[in-house]
Amino acid sequence: MSKVNKTTETALWVNQEKLVQNLRFSFTNATTVLGEALQNSRRAGATKVEIDFVPETKTLTVRDDGCGIGDYQTLFTLAESGWDAETIENEMPFGLGFLSALFSCQNLEVESKGGRVSMSTADILSFKPVKVTPWVCCPAESRFEGDVCGCGSENVQGPDAEGVYDCLECGIFFTAESIDNRCWEGVTTVRLGGFKPDASQVASCLSELAKGFPIPVIFNGNALQRPWALDSGRAFIDTEIGKVHLKGFGAGESWTDSVQELQICLQGLPIYRTKGYWRGDSMVNIVHLDSRQFHARLPDRDKLIDEEDVVKQVKSVVQKEAIKKIMALKETLSPAEFAEGYETLKLWDCLALLNDVPVIPKGVLAYIQHYPIKEGCSPVNLEPTGLVTREDVETGKVTVAELEDIDETGAVPWMFAWHKDMRVYDNPLDKGHWLFQHLVDFTRQEVQVEIVGETHRAYFNGQWVCGDAAFCEKYRLAFGDDFVDIEGDSMYWEDRGLFVVPKGDASGGVVRQASSYFDEYENFNESVKDEDEWAFQKFVIANTSPDPAKAIQRLLPSFAGCPKLFGKCFTLKLDGEGHVLSVVEAEPAETRQAA
Ligand SMILES: Nc1ncnc2c1ncn2[C@@H]1O[C@H](COP(=O)(O)OP(=O)(O)OP(=O)(O)O)[C@@H](O)[C@H]1O
Ligand SMILES: [Mg+2]
Repeated sequence: MSKVNKTTETALWVNQEKLVQNLRFSFTNATTVLGEALQNSRRAGATKVEIDFVPETKTLTVRDDGCGIGDYQTLFTLAESGWDAETIENEMPFGLGFLSALFSCQNLEVESKGGRVSMSTADILSFKPVKVTPWVCCPAESRFEGDVCGCGSENVQGPDAEGVYDCLECGIFFTAESIDNRCWEGVTTVRLGGFKPDASQVASCLSELAKGFPIPVIFNGNALQRPWALDSGRAFIDTEIGKVHLKGFGAGESWTDSVQELQICLQGLPIYRTKGYWRGDSMVNIVHLDSRQFHARLPDRDKLIDEEDVVKQVKSVVQKEAIKKIMALKETLSPAEFAEGYETLKLWDCLALLNDVPVIPKGVLAYIQHYPIKEGCSPVNLEPTGLVTREDVETGKVTVAELEDIDETGAVPWMFAWHKDMRVYDNPLDKGHWLFQHLVDFTRQEVQVEIVGETHRAYFNGQWVCGDAAFCEKYRLAFGDDFVDIEGDSMYWEDRGLFVVPKGDASGGVVRQASSYFDEYENFNESVKDEDEWAFQKFVIANTSPDPAKAIQRLLPSFAGCPKLFGKCFTLKLDGEGHVLSVVEAEPAETRQAA
């Protein structure tokens, strides 16, 4: 038996009805139709769109004064567009938008140039023939000069089986063949009965859609706000990606109010906005993308194609335009005024524009506002300085230090910079800035510590901090040829684990150079800090007191909680390392004397 290989043929086939039914699930949501309706009106060249919604009857009516629908087949043809060649080239219509109307309601009525249509959407979607009634009125008025019939369309009856109409007013019979007999008044009305979204959904969706729309959108008689529209009064720049409005650079605005948030619109409708915190519709850069270059997803253009890349491209163009504006502003502003825009320069990543400006903006430098301490999660040591001039720095009137966080470096360089009243470089400048030639850089060279006139060392054992303390006359901090002698402020020398306590300080505050008192959950343990500080203070007084009995008194705790001890007298004996060897009750002196 021989095998016979028969060749058969097949081809792509579409179950049209099912495909159309299933397209219901391709539209993003039930309100999609609102955007599609606005867009159709705009493409029809309307000067405005009026939308009314009557919640009681669930009827949405869209009216526009555009070119009108001459041939209803265009409206009911899927994936083909009836717009003119220019619109098709510029906007790439999909020929699908109106389908969303069919999915959004139960009954559809359309009145336009081509006549009237009224049908259930279920019937339309099951491909039943759609009856179009021509929109006619009595032509009597045009028959002889000066005669105004005025019958209008209300009193016209018909058509009969032959397509003949009868004007009940003046008895004229006529057909709709001649366009002259059509009395379309220039308004296209689309009425959706049994509309699914509710009143609040319609209202909120329309108010969002109208924001960047090029023509007025009137909802239930009120014109909706269009803050992002090209005719909103905001200035738009022509760029390679479309039209861009830059917040902060318009007339009467301050460039320091410039922001990076983006609102992108395509064909007048919003399509992307910067994620995250939204500071309001006016605190935003507005971009109307060139629709010949940028496309959105079928069927309802709710998302840009290649969104990530497009947004990146838009951001880079917006940044370029912002920098151009800033450069132009720089020509007109004084150095101090220009420096006011530091945060904006930072925002647009163009700090290099400050490299030749002879002032350092506010906030770049900081001064050490008090005895430096470990900070935990809040930077407490630094307070921003005002404007510093290049002259101040070059003449040495102001010395600026490059200093890392005290939690990283320990207290030594901080104590040096604080005592030298240096400014700390705190917020970034471009690496080509002139300041960098004048920085005292503690990150490269260490500050040397020399303890002068040390009397003795003792061990402090606090709750969160402990270590030897060196009691001394003073200590010297040296950096290069420069040095400072400190007599009045203790310092925690982290590398040695040593508290350096000069004679002028008995405050106990030094424990905060050894610990931030923040735990691993970033909670500040104030009570522990207070106890350690108090204990250190007593420890210093005890160690520096010339009278040993007074020293003991400082170090002893309160016995108020133990009434048995009240009025008693004890002899205390310590060993060579300070540990208590014995405590023996002694007779109180008064009792002895009395005996
Ligand atoms: N308001 C209107 N005025 C005049 N013509 C209209 C109007 N609405 C729709 N049309 C006609 O009906 C056709 C179909 O509209 P539909 O919204 O389905 O597709 P489209 O606008 O061509 O493409 P898209 O899918 O991008 O919306 C349009 O191409 C246009 O010819
Ligand atoms: Mg459309």
